[in-house]
Amino acid sequence: MKTLKIATIPGDGIGTEVVPAAIEVLKTVSEIHGGLSFAFTDFPYSCEYYLEHGVMMPDEGLEKLKDFDSIFLGAVGNVKLVPDHISLWGLLIKIRREFEQVINIRPAKVIPGVRSPLVHPKDFDLIVVRENSEGEYSEVGGRIYQGEDELAIQNSIFSRKGSERAMRYAFELASKRKKHVTSATKSNGIVHSMPFWDEVFKEVAKDYPAISTDSQHIDALAAFFVTHPERFDVIVASNLFGDVLTDIGAAIMGSVGIAPAANINVNGKYPSMFEPVHGSAPDIIGKGIANPIGQIWTAKMMLDHFDETELGTLLLDVVESVSNDGILTPDIGGKHSTKEVTDEIINRLKQRA
Ligand code: NAD
Ligand code: IPM
Ligand code: MN
Repeated sequence: MKTLKIATIPGDGIGTEVVPAAIEVLKTVSEIHGGLSFAFTDFPYSCEYYLEHGVMMPDEGLEKLKDFDSIFLGAVGNVKLVPDHISLWGLLIKIRREFEQVINIRPAKVIPGVRSPLVHPKDFDLIVVRENSEGEYSEVGGRIYQGEDELAIQNSIFSRKGSERAMRYAFELASKRKKHVTSATKSNGIVHSMPFWDEVFKEVAKDYPAISTDSQHIDALAAFFVTHPERFDVIVASNLFGDVLTDIGAAIMGSVGIAPAANINVNGKYPSMFEPVHGSAPDIIGKGIANPIGQIWTAKMMLDHFDETELGTLLLDVVESVSNDGILTPDIGGKHSTKEVTDEIINRLKQRA
């Protein structure tokens, strides 16, 4: 019996609603499989934890999390309790950085039965590889002067190693898919980091002659995500460009509530972390209507990560059969609750056993 040790961090808001739902689904998956089980350990790190302890996660938190096979996280953030930059840098971004989860993979594709807001949605299937450790998300900078002369300076950090790593990951992924990589740039406006990014991209591309490439300015690229998403295969983007692009990717699928993501530790030293694209959704907390598909599809990415691809494929297949039958939460035009959608996925998984 293979047992995977999973640390669960539901976090804030609807994270506490969709993580338990996805855990139930994963338990059903393990019952079906027979040879696979999960040992879940729950960690209460969240904004409420901060109010009680003055930190988002205790000093020994990372030490504890380090020994798990992976981390399964919901969402972090509750501005009524803690400012976002404190809660996010104290937990989510801290784990991404300390555990060297340098790549964030975020797929977007058409899901049957889920209506895209696009008037003529085409059959798109793309993956954004988001650089996850540096770029525009930097602590370098500060605030100087006061009054009308006040300044905030925010420096971006683009290392050759970090950029190249994300790009190579994108090329490797594309070699197993439609063999095209698009680089998200802004070298027409951002004069240091983006020409450098373009240069590194050209160099890396030379090592992958079988993969075609193009480079598009992020503003035009964002527009093409809406007008022609079917043109894309793999897109490699800096941290912030990837963040924005992937909410657009989620939106054209139908809702940010269905988009999955994986923060990958590529050197094998630390666990990877699986967390959907969406946040804590303060506007729908406690209503029982959070879409669980983003978190459940994220669980599928975790199964794939552990080479349980057959189970991963089965899980997404079952999710798609449920959505195709119109069993949907309100964000994608349905009337069903988180629990109803989750229960239906569990029932159908059992039928497929
Ligand atoms: P959000 O993704 O939480 O919400 C945006 C909109 O999408 C809201 O209308 C929300 O109701 C809806 N939505 C999101 N997930 C949904 C789901 N599963 N089902 C149905 N509807 C869903 O983004 P936001 O409002 O910018 O951020 C809210 C908080 O979450 C902030 O504190 C932010 O910093 C945090 N956040 C955390 C993460 C993370 O932990 N990974 C990601 C994004 C935002
Ligand atoms: C995401 C989120 C985070 C990010 C925030 C909450 C810091 O938007 O995971 O997409 O920007 O990385
Ligand atoms: Mn985001």
